[in-house]
Amino acid sequence: MTDTQSPEAPKKITLTVTIDGTSIEAHPGELLIAAAERTGTFIPRFCWHPRMTEVGMCRMCLVEVSGPRGMSLQPACMQKCGEGMVVETKSEVVRKAQDGVLEFLLVNHPLDCPVCDKGGECPLQDQTLTFGPGESRFVEEKRHFEKPISISDLVLLDRERCILCDRCTRFSKEVAGDPLIHFINRGNTTEVNTFPEDPFSSYFSGNVVQICPVGALTASPYRFAARPWDLDQVESTCTACAVGCQTVIQSSGDQITRFQGVDSDPVNWGWLCDKGRFGYEAVSAETRFGGPLMRDAGGELKPSTWIDSLDAVATRLRAYQPNEIGFIGGARLTNEDQYAWTKLAKSVLRTDNVDAQLGDGLPAEAWLGFPSATIDDLTNASLIINLGPDLKEELPVLFLRLRDAVVNKKGTAFVDFSTVANGLTPIAHASLHYRPGEVAVLVDAVLDAVGGKPVERQISGLEPTAINAFAGVVSKATTSGGGSGKVVVLLGRASLADSTDSVIEAAGRLLAKLPNVAFLPTMRRANLRGALDLGMSPGLLPGRVTQADGRAWFTSQWTNVPSGVGLDTVGMLESAAAGGLKALVLLGADLLADFPDRGLVERALSKVEYVVAVDSIVNETNAQAHVVLGAAGFAEKNGTTTNLEGRITTVAAKVSAPGTSRPDWMIATMLASRLGADLGFENVEAITDEIGRVAPAHVGISSAAFGVRANVDGILIPIPSAAAEAATAATDELAAEGVAEGESPEPVVDPGPALPPVLSIRSSSVSAVVPTPDSYSLRLVVSRTLYDNGVHTQSCPSLAKLAPRSGVRLNPGEAERHGLRDGDSVKVLSQTADLITTVITDDRVPRGVAHMFHNQSGVSATVLMDQVAMQAEGITKVRLETMGS
Ligand code: SF4
Ligand code: SF4
Ligand code: FES
Repeated sequence: MTDTQSPEAPKKITLTVTIDGTSIEAHPGELLIAAAERTGTFIPRFCWHPRMTEVGMCRMCLVEVSGPRGMSLQPACMQKCGEGMVVETKSEVVRKAQDGVLEFLLVNHPLDCPVCDKGGECPLQDQTLTFGPGESRFVEEKRHFEKPISISDLVLLDRERCILCDRCTRFSKEVAGDPLIHFINRGNTTEVNTFPEDPFSSYFSGNVVQICPVGALTASPYRFAARPWDLDQVESTCTACAVGCQTVIQSSGDQITRFQGVDSDPVNWGWLCDKGRFGYEAVSAETRFGGPLMRDAGGELKPSTWIDSLDAVATRLRAYQPNEIGFIGGARLTNEDQYAWTKLAKSVLRTDNVDAQLGDGLPAEAWLGFPSATIDDLTNASLIINLGPDLKEELPVLFLRLRDAVVNKKGTAFVDFSTVANGLTPIAHASLHYRPGEVAVLVDAVLDAVGGKPVERQISGLEPTAINAFAGVVSKATTSGGGSGKVVVLLGRASLADSTDSVIEAAGRLLAKLPNVAFLPTMRRANLRGALDLGMSPGLLPGRVTQADGRAWFTSQWTNVPSGVGLDTVGMLESAAAGGLKALVLLGADLLADFPDRGLVERALSKVEYVVAVDSIVNETNAQAHVVLGAAGFAEKNGTTTNLEGRITTVAAKVSAPGTSRPDWMIATMLASRLGADLGFENVEAITDEIGRVAPAHVGISSAAFGVRANVDGILIPIPSAAAEAATAATDELAAEGVAEGESPEPVVDPGPALPPVLSIRSSSVSAVVPTPDSYSLRLVVSRTLYDNGVHTQSCPSLAKLAPRSGVRLNPGEAERHGLRDGDSVKVLSQTADLITTVITDDRVPRGVAHMFHNQSGVSATVLMDQVAMQAEGITKVRLETMGS
């Protein structure tokens, strides 16, 4: 992150301040240090950070400020601008003060710059050279500490380098809510450290390394990896989840060495989570594919050539009917890759069996069609309602933005519906932990109470007083709360073991009964929104349009579109298992690890005739493919990506892809030509431009638009002005041909099909099954953790070891009822399969629930799930059998 970057310039500018003889405009309340920087005067600083509360600790920002008693030295980071204020930042008095501050800071600083990771990009070095005295009068022995000490799995601390600026400690407490590092001792022996036995285990620990103004905090994966002057860099977007944090990718010698956060005001404010920050290690994993592979006569996957492998794939795919071919995956690709595969599947092969979701999301129409909210809408809302997963585990930097709105700004009320207490519970103003499968029932009860009909009996096992109190928070926030007056619902999948109907029904109820509601999809995979926006779902076409609405338009643009609505991932796997679907193309999809019904995947893979995997890293599923087409991955290709709010930003190539692997769009184009079709583009820019031309939600997007300064934070689609301009352009075209507005055109003038409307849903009538009470079994809850046993985390040596221990989490009372204790082995049985794991007692888990994390080491909760039973009963039921200690 560029520490020196200030948040967005204030909108209302009304004050005049004179800095070094030049008048500038500032707004009431703006800090002098920020106003000066915004208008081109850099005031040196160590402790001030634009995204954190000012503390005035270091005094490096002393400047002369006019006051009733004339000019005096004041810290510019603590001084608010005032009308007529006169400021001197370069006077002799200021220079002397700066000399003194730096001389004191260096009394104890070791000056081990040649071996310090920060050397070459260190504010202490830079400001000493620019503003410092040139020599010191202090010759005393400096402090010595054991160096470095490890304060977490990822962060090292060299205490003697610390200048006690309070940035790391403030970040941990104020921004992350993980107050695990503190100042300890006093006076000359003050140091930053953790409490014994309580390491700095935060998902956001890498941020303190980035904001530390010296080399006191360093990241263990980067320690001694490179020097700043060796690094080459490019701006990009993190694609480890769907928040879309802005990053700088740095490399040395064609190897990625570091990711740094970039301050994007509408998205990440400069922060990254540790999975995003250190996930670059996967790029150079030894298990990367270096090109295509095909099975030899003995059935072994062996390296092949692109010509042979693509010819073989084209020959096989040509032999099948459109409805016998399915495409699964694509959420981790760029928009351009996704568009190319959609066009190949839906126009060339004419199959609508295309789904980027792996049975673990929500219906695409709901993600795309409900009124949508941005991250800024969320943080300025009067009320936020969580109907999704634990953001801290799945979308960590969105959690930081939410936390800031709720805890720091305090203008927004936040209520949480969840099955198990989680990372959101401590910051929620009210939480209700419902029985799995019953969220719609509970939302109904809350809305009744909000509407003046207090609840008088238990609902979903919850006492009426708790439900009425929760409703009270909702009522207050929607009638007299602070914020923008908007209600933003976080819409997602809290548990993979429930049917999706209940949450969609609950969302429909909120839409119908609360004022000014919008939804922010909490989809985890990086570019799932982009995939759905670009038609990677049955029944959809690029630009958020339904097949029915878009048929005429896309026929005019693509020549062919599928003849009917195809199958989603569940449907494709069921069809494959039954012998209907014959060929599967997997686009970066590890179904065996991710799909919430492992038995169904195994049945489908054993029956399907032909599997093509287009992928970057070896996984359990692509190891079973007949052909693997090795694809370039993140940081190896250019393009764009769409975050969960619909913001399109760029991703950039920084290093070479291994071997002959190449971007997906190129593979799709080459395959199309072997199928006798021309997708119509030869480079990424041409695809971006085509998307902007044909996809209704993307009108106004072009490759050139991303180079424009106004779009530095990306482009949020649909762009209302672009849609209006497109309509105007169409009208102008008709007028130019002599057709007046409102008149029917002459028969000779055929304007062709109109751009279809973007999908919009204003009400929902989904009605979910209410699970029947059953005191014999437990309801399974499966949720995700940031680090897991998935291929991405396990391909990063620094992160792989951070996955939590596997087990089934039970309420202590529930464990006791089953005769179990913490650490016991237990057999968990569902109606389809069983597994043996360890009991972990946790009083945050309600009774009647068995909670497991998805994709744990050695244990796959997905074996317990059955999609058919889940749809019929709304939930997954399990039983426990004691195995002994
Ligand atoms: Fe500041 Fe770095 Fe010391 Fe933390 S460790 S107080 S960020 S100098
Ligand atoms: Fe990357 Fe998501 Fe983490 Fe942001 S929150 S750094 S996008 S993984
Ligand atoms: Fe102002 Fe530290 S930057 S006191």
